[in-house]
Amino acid sequence: MDGELEARVVALCEGETDTVSLMATMACEIHHSDARFDWTGFYRVVAPDLLKIGPYQGGHGCLVIPFSRGVCGACAREGVAQRVDDVEAFAGHIACSSTTRSELVLPVRNRAGDLLGVFDIDSNQPAAFTSEDEARLQSLLDRVFADAPAAC
Ligand code: SME
Repeated sequence: MDGELEARVVALCEGETDTVSLMATMACEIHHSDARFDWTGFYRVVAPDLLKIGPYQGGHGCLVIPFSRGVCGACAREGVAQRVDDVEAFAGHIACSSTTRSELVLPVRNRAGDLLGVFDIDSNQPAAFTSEDEARLQSLLDRVFADAPAAC
């Protein structure tokens, strides 16, 4: 990720609290900031234990993911980041693209702690994501979505 990413995203999102507008802006900026990122986007909490596709960049994603399924579901269910170096070793991984080798999924919360969705980045490279990526992106998500309303 380039060093100016955080500043650019924060500047673009300044004063905005609409969840989809924030998701669209972040997906675009983050996707284009790093060649490791082949699919970058959000799944939104739309009902108890149910995620639906939100703004994304890359090929089409699955439309619906229950909390019980996949890496995104595990992140939503457990409320903690999932950094998967090898998707084939993750039981229940949902293969939206056969080229995906690793992924990073982070919880998206507002300041009150309401789960708004998850942020999913998929890479065609194995073990593409570092603990630094995880920490930087989580801190950016926490900042950008702090004032967004609860999902449902
Ligand atoms: N990686 C996800 C599925 C979503 S897509 O890959 C866009 C998962 O197993 O949760």
